[in-house]
Amino acid sequence: MREQLAGAERVSDLWHVVGALDEMPRGTVRLTRLMGEDVAIAVAADGRPLAWRPAAGLVDGAALDTAGVSNPLPVRRDFGYLWTSLGQPGPSLFAIPEYDEPDRRNMNAATFRVHVSAPRAVENFLDMGHFPFVHTNYLGVESHPEVKDYQVEISHDNDEIIATRCRFFQPMAAATAKGGMEVEYTYRVPHPYCAILYKSSPPAPGRHDVICIFLQPIDEEHVAANMLMSMIDHESSDTAIKAFQQKIFAQDKPILENQIPKRLPLDPRAEMPVRADKASIAYRRWLAEHGYTYGTVPQG
Ligand SMILES: [Fe+2]
Repeated sequence: MREQLAGAERVSDLWHVVGALDEMPRGTVRLTRLMGEDVAIAVAADGRPLAWRPAAGLVDGAALDTAGVSNPLPVRRDFGYLWTSLGQPGPSLFAIPEYDEPDRRNMNAATFRVHVSAPRAVENFLDMGHFPFVHTNYLGVESHPEVKDYQVEISHDNDEIIATRCRFFQPMAAATAKGGMEVEYTYRVPHPYCAILYKSSPPAPGRHDVICIFLQPIDEEHVAANMLMSMIDHESSDTAIKAFQQKIFAQDKPILENQIPKRLPLDPRAEMPVRADKASIAYRRWLAEHGYTYGTVPQG
């Protein structure tokens, strides 16, 4: 129990995503929840983002009255999202250098509410083994179910999990795909509730589309899943790029919500590992080592 409380304290000192800035009308209050606590967020008329602990009676959709904003929380803007923290966050967030490349299309593809813990959602994002069965004829086909061996390591420079040389045959890898191809993936997990995927870009050989899942932990068993797309795609409309990712995520949502338990067990004996779970084993161990136990079933 002590370990769990210590873990929750550490997670609350991190930056957490609370909304896509493009989707927040200026001057309007939105109420949300972060780690079980009420949080109000807004973008002021001058573009300044705000997050604070709301006074009783403040309603979602209210006009922003900056004079009424007390108990402000720290804020930052990264990758098109508003981030805040309930504790004392560090000076920086993880980097995604590709995001700033001039020929990329960056957008929030969707924000989905899902009844699952944030660590379960990260683990599902890392798992290629489900592609042929959950994303049939898009990210996998049932005739090619095998997950080839890949590498997983912890980067000591910035303390994140990196999985490389992940290869998978995909019939429809992206909105730009013209047919099936073996796609190479690299995964990064730089934050307990954020994962980044680099995958071969069909129109730009040698470069990668970047797809991120940034999970807002609403509480230990509910998330808002934000999908950032950073694409090399000069053909598809925003609507088509978003629709592709929304279709994929809509296939994941019922799988996520049927996970039992909803929190991620950190005991390595709790669930039987297979080769496809190599990244997942590293992720669970990394969470346990950091004491990032919020949203997990900690080791007994
Ligand atoms: Fe999936």
